[in-house]
Amino acid sequence: MYLTQEQLQTYEDNGFVLLPECFSQEEIHKMKVELPVIFSQDTPKRVLEEEGKTVRSVHGVHNTNEIFQSLSRHPQLVKPAMEILGSKVYIYQFKINAKAAFSGDIWEWHQDYIFWRKEDGVPKPQLINALVLLDDMNEFNGPLFIIPGSHKEGMIDVVAQEKRNQSQAKTKDPEWLSSFTAKLKYSLNRDMVADLVLKYGMTSIKASAGSVLLFHSNIVHASPSNISPFDRVVVIVTYNSIENICLPVPNPRPEFLVSRDYQPVDPLLESIL
Ligand code: SIN
Ligand code: MN
Repeated sequence: MYLTQEQLQTYEDNGFVLLPECFSQEEIHKMKVELPVIFSQDTPKRVLEEEGKTVRSVHGVHNTNEIFQSLSRHPQLVKPAMEILGSKVYIYQFKINAKAAFSGDIWEWHQDYIFWRKEDGVPKPQLINALVLLDDMNEFNGPLFIIPGSHKEGMIDVVAQEKRNQSQAKTKDPEWLSSFTAKLKYSLNRDMVADLVLKYGMTSIKASAGSVLLFHSNIVHASPSNISPFDRVVVIVTYNSIENICLPVPNPRPEFLVSRDYQPVDPLLESIL
């Protein structure tokens, strides 16, 4: 047993659990010093904010950067993921969300699983996000908003916002970009969010750098923009059960967004970072 009974129960009831201070300040520093080079690389893996200057996200870094590869296989993430999903896991997605000081834009209200089901053919919501805070997350710098318990609604089958995105997108933008911009392809409308908040309430995550948030693929979540002078960098590693691999889809998204390497992850040593 890796998580306590209480932590497992919290995850089951609320759809998320916060694990404070899993990584030391030294380990966090080792990761943060890698960021300027990663953010400076002009590749399709990097998504910019709407204004075209500030880095919003970078994908698939665990395949190219040794430190982030170690993080993706770290026992602090992999063991709870295996415990909650009840099986071995593989790395499905890896992204760094920068949410830069003064510039980081919103993430609309959404569930993650609908993207993975509709775009990638994932059969069941047997995936988990491990969000690692590389900065403190507070009330000012665009914290994650969560509707606790909303994972119990299952996948809410919202209509894809193709039209809106098509009219606003630049013609050279790839189709998959609408899963990562401020205007999401499968966002919940205001009435849906209001009803869910009435039913379950809402909360925001406040925690120090080095903490880890585990959250369910059907939890409804969002985040506001960051107009504070504080960066809010997070890494999100998504683990999928090896019993839940993707079915064939007509237009598979690039490998750096959705891995089709179903090799189970063997957790490394605690001291790997
Ligand atoms: C996400 O929904 O995957 C990211 C939200 C955030 O970084 O605030
Ligand atoms: Mn999300």
